[in-house]
Amino acid sequence: MLKKKAIISQKSNKTAERKTGKAVKKIRRAKKNIATVTGMRDILPQDQKYWEKVRQVAKQISIDYGYDRIDTPVLELTELFVRGVGAQTDIVEKEMFSFTDQGGDNLVLRPEFTAAAVRAYIQHGMLNQIQPVKFFYLGPLFRHEKPQSGRYRQFFQFGFEAIGEENPALDAQLILMGWNSLNDLGIESVIQVNSIGCMSCREEYKKVLVKYYKAKAKLLCESCKTRLTKNPLRLLDCKESGCQELKDDAPQILDYLDDNCKEHFMKVVGYLDELDLPYVLNPYIVRGLDYYNRTIFEYWAIDDVEGKNALGGGGRYDGLVTMLGGREDTPACGLAMGLDRIVAKMREKNIEVPDKRVDVFVAQLGDAAKKKAMLMYENLRPNGSFTIAQAFHKDSLKKQLELANKMKVKFTLIIGQKEVGEGTIMLRDMQGGVQEVIDFNKIEKELKKRLEKYREGAVIDLTADEEEKESSTEIPEEDVADLGDLGDDLAAV
Ligand code: HAM
Repeated sequence: MLKKKAIISQKSNKTAERKTGKAVKKIRRAKKNIATVTGMRDILPQDQKYWEKVRQVAKQISIDYGYDRIDTPVLELTELFVRGVGAQTDIVEKEMFSFTDQGGDNLVLRPEFTAAAVRAYIQHGMLNQIQPVKFFYLGPLFRHEKPQSGRYRQFFQFGFEAIGEENPALDAQLILMGWNSLNDLGIESVIQVNSIGCMSCREEYKKVLVKYYKAKAKLLCESCKTRLTKNPLRLLDCKESGCQELKDDAPQILDYLDDNCKEHFMKVVGYLDELDLPYVLNPYIVRGLDYYNRTIFEYWAIDDVEGKNALGGGGRYDGLVTMLGGREDTPACGLAMGLDRIVAKMREKNIEVPDKRVDVFVAQLGDAAKKKAMLMYENLRPNGSFTIAQAFHKDSLKKQLELANKMKVKFTLIIGQKEVGEGTIMLRDMQGGVQEVIDFNKIEKELKKRLEKYREGAVIDLTADEEEKESSTEIPEEDVADLGDLGDDLAAV
């Protein structure tokens, strides 16, 4: 009996321990720092200059070629991409972040922009506008892919879509726009171009392709075995080495284009030649989305010979408008570039982007001076020709000047009790370390004049003394003596 009791108490001890252990784990988990979701990342302030540069170039290209900005919602109905991108594609089959909302709607975080752009074109009756309607977009997308270098679950694209025109000049110009955006950023790339013809050329081609691969089915990777029945064109862009070898002898789509598709493609290529663009005809690119027909293309960095991390891609999608319920026979063409991969390439190639420039720092010492400086800052802020910074939360002049040094500003405006009383301000040239007292009401004019000279390349010499001109940001002792209230702090900088 006693033994039984002992066993029972041992058991309950263990259960209690387990419970405590679980509770501790739960608390630890609750206390653990929360990090970003797998495959997603923060873009930190120090990296923003690269992203901003890419956005600037993209916006400039949109202006240069007349594409107007469109922003579509991040959430769309699942149906849009199932119908638009294709139920059999990797994106729709495996990669969509989808959920049912409180109202019972099946929604997804958008995995791409093209279907959304076409939805907007139809929804807002844009076929009544001058064609083609030309969209430019930029924003985040979501695909639940296996996270790896250059492949994120939240990534960014900018892109251009031209809806309502089938002229091959449009295909060539879009190809040019993508290439120009990389070139303007200093990235060397080679354009990979192909045509997958129209539906009828493709049906013919698929038959011979399946016949070719069926005979070699044993040698295919597992995914390609499935592709053989579900999406045979994708056999051609498998990156597995065994499958890569097989594709060398595979039949090529270009040999199966009908006369119209061939003529269209020849014209596109003719324009590319005329524009002297670096392109290769690559019969193996097929693109992973079902809406394409005729021209398709990708941008590979010059050193990415296998195209493992395409920087962008696009093509013609003449059937998508109809597929999404719009008017029959509405041709369209577009492209999208991946910002994440472009930024990574810029960093890999050490492509320099200048830091944000601050021209003038406003420093203050004492309560009355702080108030005056805050007001002055608001008046100077919209000046349109120079940028300013401040640290009004700081009281120590030394700390403010250290900050101004760190920001590499050209000038610091310093205001103390004495200056408030006299209606003046001290203008300090940070390069020469020289300062002079100027009338408070002439600040903006003086700064503009001096900064203009700086930008012209001239070093401003406020003193006649050559030695002083060479001095660093340190303030000469005799000046410190003249500074009244500010002297102690300035002397310490
Ligand atoms: P896409 O090839 O799926 O095409 O994507 C275009 C570019 O987005 C890729 O070349 C790549 O740079 C970037 N990208 C794609 N997935 C990821 C990822 N998981 N992580 C980082 N970057 C990625 C489209 O999306 C089509 N809508 C393009 C288009 C526009 N076709 C016609 N119009």
